[in-house]
Amino acid sequence: MAAKYDLVIRNGRVIDGSGAPAEEADVAIIEDRIVAIDRIPAGSGERELDVSGKVVAPGFIDAHTHDDLALMVMPEMPPKASQGVTTVVTGNCGISLAPLLPERPLPPPLDLIGNADWYKFASFGDYLDALDESPAALNSAALVGHSTLRVGAMTELDRPATYEELSVMRDRLRAALDDGAIGLSSGTFYPPAAAAPTEEVAALAEIAGEADGIYATHMRDETVRVVESIAESVEIAKSGGVALIISHHKVAGRANHGRTTETLPLILEAMEKQSVGLDVYPYVASSSILQAARVTESERVLIAWSRGEPEMAGRDLGEIARDWGITEAQAIERLNPAGAVYFMMDEEDVRRILQCPHAMIGSDGLPHDLHPHPRLWGTFPRVLGHYARDVGLFSLEEAVRRMTSLPAERFGLTGRGRLSPGAHADIVVFDADTIEDRATFEEPTTPAAGIDLVLVNGRLVWRDGAPTGARPGRALRRQTLQDERDRAISH
Ligand code: ZN
Ligand code: CU
Repeated sequence: MAAKYDLVIRNGRVIDGSGAPAEEADVAIIEDRIVAIDRIPAGSGERELDVSGKVVAPGFIDAHTHDDLALMVMPEMPPKASQGVTTVVTGNCGISLAPLLPERPLPPPLDLIGNADWYKFASFGDYLDALDESPAALNSAALVGHSTLRVGAMTELDRPATYEELSVMRDRLRAALDDGAIGLSSGTFYPPAAAAPTEEVAALAEIAGEADGIYATHMRDETVRVVESIAESVEIAKSGGVALIISHHKVAGRANHGRTTETLPLILEAMEKQSVGLDVYPYVASSSILQAARVTESERVLIAWSRGEPEMAGRDLGEIARDWGITEAQAIERLNPAGAVYFMMDEEDVRRILQCPHAMIGSDGLPHDLHPHPRLWGTFPRVLGHYARDVGLFSLEEAVRRMTSLPAERFGLTGRGRLSPGAHADIVVFDADTIEDRATFEEPTTPAAGIDLVLVNGRLVWRDGAPTGARPGRALRRQTLQDERDRAISH
């Protein structure tokens, strides 16, 4: 008898991603699709994997990444595949690798995702085509960065764009969306875009809205003016008629601890009138470029990388300054350009945001840092193991929903984020009892425990703690996703 299915995953506890309780079932796959979730007769799969006692869930969607270049230079994507992630959303915080051919040195934070040599894609289509030619293990969906557009269209970044410059940015954004970008991101917190007024961003958000895309923002201020920043973000999205995503929501700086009791109700209120989402990473420390202003807001600062003093990666800024016998401000100058990890949030705020039923999980990991923030390797297992199982913030099924169907819906990733017949076979198999993030601030690249198998588009990409070498990931295009959605609706 010829096998009916290519693969059957047997005897797992199936968590389908919707939030519904786990159920014992077998999952059958043909090529890149799930075709049945049921009790399936033994021997009907060409290949069968027994996963008794383990959870079978939709592959996780990392709602917030800076993996634009990582997909190309580390295509097996171990930091993410090792966590059960099967799709990454790239181009966040206003910085995307395309479209940009830089004519001057790259201003930080554009250098967080790659040096000037890697900014070689004149069009967004060129970038997506490069991913097609040399695919990664994981799927990706890409945003266009406002700061990237600014650097490409403006000579001085410390002022609002002129009418002509804004027209250039609007045209390039429209072209990128036509090429397959899923939306726009901004990072008005950062110097290359800090001088952009609300209207400039709104004029771009409108283009994303016309394409039925999304607008994700690293807000202008996540400290003392966090409430005003939420209002600005909501206003931009409203005037542009576009779905908003507030990136890595947090309130930073000791003086602002506890203020999620103000920010979350504001976000919920806005949600009643327009499409608003948010993502969060499960840590009390943030990470970005090294900036004096952030240092003063932090209890402790670790150096993630330094071009000035590379061997200082992983060390404490206060200790470095003491060793050198200089002030922290002087040490920052000597270390820069550099990246840092900032301990500046409150555990209660982090938990309050995690408990918001609309909060997606996004790592915000920085894959090119020498001594990265542990969120790069630990985010998803930390939510499942530490926060769901050990702390009991929510059920395992709810934790899975926040990293699967919720982001799939927000980002329009049709046919992903759920286990159901017809869905793309992006699947993770993990042990709910042992899953644990092992990456720490001291040892930030230690892979998580408890992830057994990861499949992307029906193919195994991670097994027994190592990549399989398969690279079945797809660079997802807005048009393909929207067509698929329209077909699904008309059926
Ligand atoms: Zn950011
Ligand atoms: Cu980010």
